[in-house]
Amino acid sequence: MLNVRAFAASVFALAIGSTFQAACSSSSGAEQDGETLTFAQAIEPLVQEKCQSCHRAGGIAPFPLVTYEDVKGMGEVAKEKVQRREMPPWGAFDDPSCKVDHAFRDDLRLTDKQVDTFVRWVEKGMPLGDPAKRPPARTTFGASGLTDKTGTYQLPAPYSVVPGKDDIRCFPIDPGFAEDTWIGGSNVVPGDPRVVHHVIVYVDPKRQGVAKAAGAGSYPCFGGPDVEEPSLLLAWAPGVPPMVYGEETGLKIPKGSHLVMQVHYHPSHEAVTDQTSVELKTLSYKPGYVAQVILAGNAETADGFIKLLPGPNDPPSGPAFVIPSNAKGHTESMELEIPEKAGDVTIPELGVYAIGAHMHWAGVDMKIEVERKTAAEGKPAKECLLGTPKYDFNWQRTYAYDAPLDKLPTVGPGDKVRFTCTYDNTTDNRHVQRAMSEMRMSSPPEIKLGETTLDEMCLGVLITVRRASLLD
Ligand code: HEC
Repeated sequence: MLNVRAFAASVFALAIGSTFQAACSSSSGAEQDGETLTFAQAIEPLVQEKCQSCHRAGGIAPFPLVTYEDVKGMGEVAKEKVQRREMPPWGAFDDPSCKVDHAFRDDLRLTDKQVDTFVRWVEKGMPLGDPAKRPPARTTFGASGLTDKTGTYQLPAPYSVVPGKDDIRCFPIDPGFAEDTWIGGSNVVPGDPRVVHHVIVYVDPKRQGVAKAAGAGSYPCFGGPDVEEPSLLLAWAPGVPPMVYGEETGLKIPKGSHLVMQVHYHPSHEAVTDQTSVELKTLSYKPGYVAQVILAGNAETADGFIKLLPGPNDPPSGPAFVIPSNAKGHTESMELEIPEKAGDVTIPELGVYAIGAHMHWAGVDMKIEVERKTAAEGKPAKECLLGTPKYDFNWQRTYAYDAPLDKLPTVGPGDKVRFTCTYDNTTDNRHVQRAMSEMRMSSPPEIKLGETTLDEMCLGVLITVRRASLLD
């Protein structure tokens, strides 16, 4: 995904301030037991709360989990998926090496108790229970799009998805922004939810995507948009709600920029056309706070702000990013040290509004931690910001913290942000296995840093917020 070199420079080119302001909400669940371990009393409320946002008529999942028959019919498979925490789709979990202090917004995870309830209900034979005790049907599912959107930007033409394999394409789009434009919210609307697996929207300030598409409207682009000075507008997977920064915060798109929409299409066995779109809310004023996306960790920068740390299998010459064939649990780590200044400008403390992990097929877990130069109330010397022991390339997304702006985790000058990526480059990893068979290889290849299918990345996405300055 990227040219981090150019990016790191732009990230530190701006300035001033450290107070933030408010937003947000969350939900909770309840479970029952014993006599009440029935569909009516224990399971229907659970699937309403945690499954039906996707598994309902018109939802993005391929089948509904609404009626007793629906849930019973899928019960055994669902039990497996729930037990392995593969459903609901969500990659971020605590483990002993990483406990995240902040809650995430729109958290899809089941509690341990909910998993236990679901599993025991299936093992008990999936009783219906007393129909009179069933909850009323759930009919509201939150806004499905971006409220107050000011524009919708669609793929220029329906795209015929390449059948039978993963198809990762970049589509340049001209949003027609004649002036610098502030984005207060964004959302992706998949054209055909059966095949759109994830979408990353980049800003292409030099409008180079169009030439790459060479009149075809799109071009293949596994690792990133392959343009100079890209920045990131949003990263989306099914289940990710619209990104809304609130009235006071915006992400700047320089005038004249194009967007490049990278769409990952899932293998489809029939002919499918897709016309995905991105909804934007532009602000008609310059906001008081600036959202900025830092993509870091993937490559060393000449200025030394980002470096590769020593790891297993390093050659005598020093740290090297190499994942040997058949390595399991192999880690590579990167460190970003936030400088005190960028040129003459003092770098302010940044609130981390949302965070995400990006690796390719071999990636199985990524951890992002901060080691702060100075600890303070609510800002421990060491803090784990994200752990993704259920990382799956197919479900990559950003996770927004459920906290007002002044309570977000922070990163500031002198702090070190560490990215630790774990890879499984064996045939136990179904993604590696599939890539091998597509490429007719008999054993997993040695993997290096890069942007194509069998290269790897270890890239953190930090969507930060800071007070706007005169320079913005
Ligand atoms: C954010 C959307 C979303 C939520 C929430 C969600 N699912 Fe899914 N689910 C999907 C999608 C999309 C698929 C299609 C398969 C895929 O792409 O992985 C799926 C597939 C499945 C499958 C089929 C897997 C297979 O291999 O055939 C099961 C079973 C399942 N979900 C159960 C559940 C249960 C149970 C819940 C709630 C506890 C749930 N899901 C919540 C989106 C969701």
